[in-house]
Amino acid sequence: MKVAVVGATGMVGEVMLKVLAERNFPLTELIPVASERSVGKSITYRGKEYTVVGLADAVSMKPDVALFSAGGDTSLEWAPKFAEAGTTVVDNSSAWRMDPTKKLVVPEINAGELTKEDKIIANPNCSTIQLVMALAPLHKKYKMKRVVVSTYQSVSGTGVKAVRQLENEIAGIEGEMAYPYPIGRNALPHCDVFQDNGYTKEEMKLAKEPQKILSDNSFAVSATAVRIPTAGGHSESVNVEFENDFELADIRKILSETPGVVVQDNTDTNTYPMPIYAHDKDEVFVGRIRRDESQANTLNMWIVADNLRKGAATNTIQIAEYLIANNML
Ligand SMILES: NC(=O)c1ccc[n+]([C@@H]2O[C@H](COP(=O)([O-])OP(=O)(O)OC[C@H]3O[C@@H](n4cnc5c(N)ncnc54)[C@H](OP(=O)(O)O)[C@@H]3O)[C@@H](O)[C@H]2O)c1
Repeated sequence: MKVAVVGATGMVGEVMLKVLAERNFPLTELIPVASERSVGKSITYRGKEYTVVGLADAVSMKPDVALFSAGGDTSLEWAPKFAEAGTTVVDNSSAWRMDPTKKLVVPEINAGELTKEDKIIANPNCSTIQLVMALAPLHKKYKMKRVVVSTYQSVSGTGVKAVRQLENEIAGIEGEMAYPYPIGRNALPHCDVFQDNGYTKEEMKLAKEPQKILSDNSFAVSATAVRIPTAGGHSESVNVEFENDFELADIRKILSETPGVVVQDNTDTNTYPMPIYAHDKDEVFVGRIRRDESQANTLNMWIVADNLRKGAATNTIQIAEYLIANNML
């Protein structure tokens, strides 16, 4: 399998290389791709050095699959060129997610939608993936009406520039800013750009992507996305109103039995998910599971996952693995 990693020098790209190696992805040739700034640099994969190439060279090398995480503009321009050359693209940016001709896939939920004809496949937003991983099995049994989610998102979700901003602030160094304000000792109710409706793009991704992944417009999601100075992963406070009443024990049982989800929920032992412990893990962690006492059929929970792994790299690679396992590449 000839695999191009587009954005190989970025936050997600680096984790992709790590996850590909960990999972023994059947890779025979790696093509690391980045911007012109990085062409010629070398990166190491499984102890071997590879030279970073530009996008045009990568297309001409006709990889079997290209894992994209180099921003929306790069994906919009280049994913179709790879697809035309016969490469299947799995894209991490927001470029294709809401395109009705493209599939938006979380393998545990809707990989079954994929066919050999899908040449550009979208990976959902990081905060969406961890949300739907917990919501999908509960929706199946209790039918969601409305979800209210507030996020506490890691600086790693913005990319290398933001991680550097936080590190510089901690070290007392003046440097380039990824955010309009300091992020250390702060909370910014501002993830991605503002839209005309007053929400940010990140909040609208959380509102729209779950409906597409679950192929169901009968529920609605309202989101507030907040950036905080953590580095390990994203956390979400989630309030879900269901059509049907539930038993908390059954909610815990369903989540415990869901592949890829781990329940960490014991108030007697102060057991609950935290980004510092979700870091570098592929699972989605759920805790603080409790009834919303202000409204019928309503649940509160706290969901944490490593945004660079299940929120990005791992999910992308799981999609590629599914394609291989089903002879779709
Ligand atoms: N961080 C997350 O948690 C997360 C989660 C899900 C999805 N995503 C998405 O994944 C993408 C990358 O995010 P990131 O956090 O990894 O960003 P990042 O750390 O800033 O890395 C960006 C990568 O894209 C490359 N790149 C930038 N412009 C390019 C161009 N014109 N042509 C070719 N390569 C180019 C960069 O190469 P150079 O090093 O040469 O500049 C670098 O490898 C974004 O679309 C983001 O929305 C991120």
